[in-house]
Amino acid sequence: MKANRIYNFNPGPAALPLPVLEEIQEYLLNFQGSGMSVTEISHRSKQFEGVIEDAVARTKRLLNLDDRYHVLFIQGGASMQFHMIALNLLADGATADYVNTGTWSTKAIKEAEILGRSITVAASSEDRNFCYIPKDISFNPNAAFVHITSNNTIKGTQWAEFPDTKGVPIVSDMSSDIMSRPLDASRFGLIYAGAQKNIGPAGVCMAIIRDDLLERIPDNLPSMLSYRTYVNKNSLYNTPPCFAIYTVQLVLKWLEETVGGLDKMAAINRQKADALYGCIDASGFYRATADPDSRSTMNVTFRLPSEALEAKFVQEGLANGLGGLKGHRSVGGCRASIYNASGLDAIEALTDFMKTFEKANG
Ligand SMILES: Cc1ncc(COP(=O)(O)O)c(C=O)c1O
Repeated sequence: MKANRIYNFNPGPAALPLPVLEEIQEYLLNFQGSGMSVTEISHRSKQFEGVIEDAVARTKRLLNLDDRYHVLFIQGGASMQFHMIALNLLADGATADYVNTGTWSTKAIKEAEILGRSITVAASSEDRNFCYIPKDISFNPNAAFVHITSNNTIKGTQWAEFPDTKGVPIVSDMSSDIMSRPLDASRFGLIYAGAQKNIGPAGVCMAIIRDDLLERIPDNLPSMLSYRTYVNKNSLYNTPPCFAIYTVQLVLKWLEETVGGLDKMAAINRQKADALYGCIDASGFYRATADPDSRSTMNVTFRLPSEALEAKFVQEGLANGLGGLKGHRSVGGCRASIYNASGLDAIEALTDFMKTFEKANG
């Protein structure tokens, strides 16, 4: 770890791979010999078109996407997608199934309802404060799609296996676990992810949409709210968030060329999560909040014996170079977000600190 940087466990915006930050720094004043920063060049320049094309190509390779899939860059965050999904894919009386696994699913449902769309909550884990992922759900075979949140950033749960929707396309919010593991994309009609957790900075949302879903989009939508606009114009209908997309491209390059792809990334993420949950389970002082079979490999949520100890833990963690360990304000407790950019060294530093803290306070 570089001298003046801390181990960053923030939930998002979150840690970025150090080589990515260093590459940004190296070329910040002169991008590809243009004599200008990437933040200063035209989004219609050859250089920037190259950035977008490369980001799309790398996404397709990493996720093994076939030609039916379009990779788009959209502003408005994942929150804008909650609304765009319903607007684009639930016109003309179509109905959809939603699975409610926490705060972000709840918001996705709310946005569809604001638009007056017909949706059914096919399953929910609200009965136990969203500490698990529902199983054996029966979905409406006539639903236009099934919406899930693949990883629940606040509650610390994650779908280990995606549900069997019997051919109904899955629409998934993957904001907090995209590119953390390989995917059988063929089951998904739409994947979307705010970049600021696992693939870049805030300001851009990646959306991946399959051809057959494009056919359902009404013609009369405002241009900026229609997925078709982004597909037809290669995400360059208007000025896109150039710097954010450039950073995403560098993160994807790091994933492919330095990490070696998503199988390798998933193995590292498994090892990190096992080490951290192992430390929690072995302690009797820390208590994981999610059911064991639903635990997230990305956001590890846990409690200490009292709120006072939790506050002390967060404060002393920071003093020891471990930042961002406070749980979301809506749930309290502690949370370590261990996205792709958090290395095994970060986990080791955290578990060492946890053991020391327990000894002193347990
Ligand atoms: C799973 C999930 N979905 C959606 C959002 C909202 O994303 P944004 O702030 O990009 O709108 C978040 C943000 O934390 C999230 O974790």
